[in-house]
Amino acid sequence: MYRTIRTGSPRKPAVLIGLPAGTSRLPKSLIELDEAHGGRIKLAMRSRMFRGESGDVIVEGEDIVLVGLGEMDSLDLNAIRRLGGRLVRKLHEMDIHALDVEIDLTIPRRIAGPESVGQALAEGMVLANWQVDFFDGKATTNTPSSGSLSLGSACQDVRGGMRRGIILAESTNESRRLSATPPNICIPSWVAQQARAAARKYGFKCRVISFAEAKRLGMGGLVNVGKGSSHKPCMMILEHKPARPRPGHRLALVGKTMTYDSGGYSLKISNSMKGMKYDMNGGAAVFGAMVAVARLKLPVHVFAVLPCAENLVSGDAYRPDDIITMHNGVTVEVTNTDAEGRLILGDALSWTCRRLKPTAIVDVATLTGGVVVGLGHFCAGLWCENTAFRNQVEAAAESTGERVWQLPLWEEHRAFMRSQHADIWNSGPSRNAHPIQGAAFLSYFVDEKIPWAHLDIAGVSAVEKRDDLHVVGPTGYGVRLLSEIVARTGA
Ligand code: BES
Ligand code: ZN
Ligand code: ZN
Repeated sequence: MYRTIRTGSPRKPAVLIGLPAGTSRLPKSLIELDEAHGGRIKLAMRSRMFRGESGDVIVEGEDIVLVGLGEMDSLDLNAIRRLGGRLVRKLHEMDIHALDVEIDLTIPRRIAGPESVGQALAEGMVLANWQVDFFDGKATTNTPSSGSLSLGSACQDVRGGMRRGIILAESTNESRRLSATPPNICIPSWVAQQARAAARKYGFKCRVISFAEAKRLGMGGLVNVGKGSSHKPCMMILEHKPARPRPGHRLALVGKTMTYDSGGYSLKISNSMKGMKYDMNGGAAVFGAMVAVARLKLPVHVFAVLPCAENLVSGDAYRPDDIITMHNGVTVEVTNTDAEGRLILGDALSWTCRRLKPTAIVDVATLTGGVVVGLGHFCAGLWCENTAFRNQVEAAAESTGERVWQLPLWEEHRAFMRSQHADIWNSGPSRNAHPIQGAAFLSYFVDEKIPWAHLDIAGVSAVEKRDDLHVVGPTGYGVRLLSEIVARTGA
């Protein structure tokens, strides 16, 4: 794939035209462009059997690229992202390095304006251009990324949208790079190093709470979960504080960052352990969102909090039956060491409420296998009992195409987490309503007055099958969603 995709004023670009399914005559909006290309767009349409199915691509000569928009009824931003993905693979195959994007000319404004079209297309292209090649060795059969693709457009709004889309997708790819890094390299201190480097590069603040400090702060969750590994836990706090933030808003993003989850003494059986390097994808999403928020210079005061640990087995590891005291003084009976995410998040949430006093919180976590059973890989589970904030999260998800689905969190669920030997247990005696148990547990650590949304992304943060936007591996789910939630805060 391409090493870089950029906007610019490409020389001798191929022109990109979108055509709805079943177009037989040149649309009026393309007449001028067709004349400028000596009537060759019309010719290209006729000379090939072009049906215009979504994502069909035809390259005519070296300078005309036709892409199918599919049926207008089903054309939306997500379809545009996906066709961007299919397009970039084809362009690379055809060795095209400069593109004049004119697909907005045939997309009615009621479906999407030129800026959104440019953004969605560029997002799709940059997401699909990503590959996991950092660990290709001497025996690789993959071709390394090379060359660049330069994107221009006659329309200023399309160009602006593409710039935004590239930033959002590159930030998503930053997140995917962390996720894809294997757990023998990606240990808590490595994540902290990455956070510090990103803070320097993109201009946000970074502070790291060490293992020793976490002990002093009484973070029983983070300390106990992480102490069994020789790679000790830590917690990173990133802060984006623009010069003139929208007044009255301080948004906190909290991400579960388990660099590896073996299950601990409640050991995962081998098949379900594989892939647990992705148990840090909530933190990676929050990390990527901070990169995007800083690069886009969004006028909102935002914090990201990443509790980070490795859940292993050793003579120092915590065990089932342990009772631990969390940062806010709540005691927890450990019934299962594999329900570790909620323990590190509980401390992070309580610390965030007390120290950062945010006006709203979103936490993102690969929290339960149960959410994968319930919702599959189609959407994340969403818990949010504050209607206004839930509307904001749902509207953001609608526009970025990272879908969410609400599940309930009632007093009965909270009561179910009460234990006989301590205040609460980290997992109930039955697996009933498993993902909701996770949310109910977390609610014990969030200040009631602060609007709070919990996203369980266990089903959506990595894919096992290649699709239009992703190769097998992390999807970066949440980076664009969180950035959009930030953008809508106080707007
Ligand atoms: N990290 C897992 C959840 C998970 C499962 C993420 C599958 C991605 C794919 C989490 O820490 C966990 O182990 N959850 C247990 C909880 C249970 C032991 C209470 C689960 O879901 O089985
Ligand atoms: Zn676990
Ligand atoms: Zn986990």
